[in-house]
Amino acid sequence: MKPYSYIAPLEVLSQHTGVAVEGIIKLDGNENPYGCSPKVKEALSTYPYYHVYPDSEQRELRKALEGYVGVPDNRLLVGSGSDELIDLILRLFIEPGDKVINCVPTFGMYPFSTETCGGKVVNVPRDESFAVDVSGVKKAIAESAKLVFLASPNNPTGNTTPQRDVLKLLETGIVVVVDEAYYEFSGETMVPLVVEHDNLIVLRSFSKWAGIAGLRVGYGVFPEKIAQHLMRIKPPYNVNIAAQIAAIESLKDLGYLQETIQAIIAERQRLFAKLAGLDSFKPFPSKANFILCSVLNNQAEGIHQQLGRRGIFVRYFDTPLLKDCLRISVGKPEHTDALVAALKEIC
Ligand SMILES: Cc1ncc(COP(=O)(O)O)c(C=O)c1O
Repeated sequence: MKPYSYIAPLEVLSQHTGVAVEGIIKLDGNENPYGCSPKVKEALSTYPYYHVYPDSEQRELRKALEGYVGVPDNRLLVGSGSDELIDLILRLFIEPGDKVINCVPTFGMYPFSTETCGGKVVNVPRDESFAVDVSGVKKAIAESAKLVFLASPNNPTGNTTPQRDVLKLLETGIVVVVDEAYYEFSGETMVPLVVEHDNLIVLRSFSKWAGIAGLRVGYGVFPEKIAQHLMRIKPPYNVNIAAQIAAIESLKDLGYLQETIQAIIAERQRLFAKLAGLDSFKPFPSKANFILCSVLNNQAEGIHQQLGRRGIFVRYFDTPLLKDCLRISVGKPEHTDALVAALKEIC
């Protein structure tokens, strides 16, 4: 099977390029460049009981999430990143040979985890504006698929899936997983539908908005029965103490984090305008904290390499559905300025 193509951390990028860690402009992982809440750092530095195992049932964190998400804690489960929940959901539903629908181009963990669980990936391409092909997915469902993944906003394309499309798929009875890892940047959610549909799961993450990607916290909103089953099959201490503390403290400091989210949303607009102003770039509108760009004249790979040499990292795609594309995470204003100056030199 194809391994997951992961991104490198700051220290490795620094070693490869000779650029000091502080000088690296990391726009390849959709992380929050403003970092975590100061409350997280303070709580982590004073917590006295790291020698004790974490709460396997994540009680305090799930209670804290109730208020933020707006559903009772018996519908919530936390994972070591939402990546872990993708894997657990597949373990719960998939037997070897079962089909899982993947609306490509999309997030690479869906096919990766489907294959590690012995499932068969059925790719249904999105249309030219990256909207989900609802009738194509329905056709694939009719051919006995077990589960469909829909990232909304979608990574790497940045567009959301409208509620009417999700409802059409829910009507078929298939389990629909709506992955809202970038919810805080789009403001669109299917969470209220979970209470009405026992085949809908919504996944969220603390990695992008709360600035704690390195601590690995994601959660899911589930029909009660599915939450109970997942609680039974998950590894006992899947979310470590530091991760649980960091997530709880983030939820106590929403005012601060909202400011960084708003700064990123404002910068998204500015970055889009700057990229649209470059001759070789065609950026696609985004409701996430990144922008996908199609690059003219086969220049994407060269630009990606030359940016890397300058210590500026973006994600490069060259697949049949994403030819010559770059995905650029929204950084701070100074990151946009450095990126655009480098692009003007390179192109
Ligand atoms: C659509 C989508 N879902 C899930 C994730 C993973 O999130 P986490 O860090 O919570 O595992 C990502 C990360 O890039 C993503 O783009």
